[in-house]
Amino acid sequence: MAHQDPNPTLLELAQQVQADCRIIIDHLARNALPSPSLAADAYPFFPGTGPPGVDTFPRLNEDIRKARTRLQVAATTLAQLAAGPADAALTGTIGHFMSACLQYIHHFRLAEHVPVDGDISYKDLAAKAGVVSNQCARVLKFAATKGWFRQTRPGHVTHTAISKMLLMPDFRDTIGYVTGESFAGGPKMVEAVEKYPGSAEKNETCWNLGHNTDLPMFEYFEHQPARMQRFMGCMRYMASGESFSTKNVVDAFDWQGLGKGLVVDVGGGFGHCCSEIATVAPHLDFIVQDLEKVVAQAQRERANDKDIDRIKFQAHNFFTAQPVKNASVYLLRFICHDYSDKYAAQILGHLVAAMGPNSRIIIVDEVMPEVGVLSSVEEQRASRMLDMEMMLSFNSLEREEEGWQSLIEQADERLELRSIRRIPGNVLAVMEVGLKQPN
Ligand SMILES: C[S@@+](CC[C@H](N)C(=O)[O-])C[C@H]1O[C@@H](n2cnc3c(N)ncnc32)[C@H](O)[C@@H]1O
Repeated sequence: MAHQDPNPTLLELAQQVQADCRIIIDHLARNALPSPSLAADAYPFFPGTGPPGVDTFPRLNEDIRKARTRLQVAATTLAQLAAGPADAALTGTIGHFMSACLQYIHHFRLAEHVPVDGDISYKDLAAKAGVVSNQCARVLKFAATKGWFRQTRPGHVTHTAISKMLLMPDFRDTIGYVTGESFAGGPKMVEAVEKYPGSAEKNETCWNLGHNTDLPMFEYFEHQPARMQRFMGCMRYMASGESFSTKNVVDAFDWQGLGKGLVVDVGGGFGHCCSEIATVAPHLDFIVQDLEKVVAQAQRERANDKDIDRIKFQAHNFFTAQPVKNASVYLLRFICHDYSDKYAAQILGHLVAAMGPNSRIIIVDEVMPEVGVLSSVEEQRASRMLDMEMMLSFNSLEREEEGWQSLIEQADERLELRSIRRIPGNVLAVMEVGLKQPN
């Protein structure tokens, strides 16, 4: 995907769109897969990209994945050329209107009151949701311009396949996190960088100013169980999708090769990553560590899960000494990117003190590619988007390979980065870090 033509013509883009649509349509037809559609009853994923177990179609092969990506890049640029630079520039500045509308739709649970079959009047919908009818209609009409909900006849609205996603609990939580937590940090960016220039602190973030608290986000959540729960839903949703699937953790490391061993998932949330690994490595045991309230909730929720006899939960603050010594693997998925080097090095340092000679640390996080390595669509959707989230909410960052090398050195000079593995289509790399072997 590197070296895209920076200035394609309308016609070149249209031809690219047509060629890639052909590849995709043929693939769908050949395999008797559902055609992409935004109708409310449409299949919610591009077949083969949804959560494994929910989307049971065969996983996408690399050629089709690339065709989809090329198509999205070409179609996005095509729309910008059709609009012209001035209009395209303006369109790019109004994302906050949609975020505000989604915050309203999420907060007042509008999606739940719209029937899945048929439609509802804005007036009846507003009455059910307890909001002002005219305002509700204006919000939904704006959202409809982006494909969320659809006006069926004057004064009436129904779902599209996009708005119906809000009926999926973990997706709903994701929209709740983005519009409830992250969105509040945006308007505070300039204020935060002026108040705390160059800060690497966990509690001097745009998010802190937006939410008027001195507590770092995760400590704040310890006092806000509903928001902690919502964050966990968001994590689960991200882990289930194509770009951040926990499947890559399974595929990019030989878990079975560890034989009988212990994996400690540090900051492991509700243990969704360990569950995935447990399915391929029957001889491994797992300890999922997280903050006290998260662990209590996880134990309640997961009590009846498959493989739960091999997965224990343990309250542990990863800024303190690691209580489990000499584990086979200490897993850090989506942890280091939440912290500046100063704090990420502390987390790694506590693991080094607990490691035996054969212990490893497996870090699952982004290794940011150089600009142009990924397509613009892939780079924005995953890497740059998360990097902005890290900047706004955590004063942290998505690291390039050099940044990882430097963090690991800073944490402990005995550590070495042994390998970086990527599974195509997944944004997260799987890095193996171990203690240098004596020569
Ligand atoms: C971004 S989430 C990642 C969760 C999980 N590893 C995953 O990949 O989905 C960060 C996790 O770290 C946990 N966490 C935050 N601060 C912590 C701390 N000081 N000690 C232990 N866990 C912590 C959060 O509760 C949350 O579950």
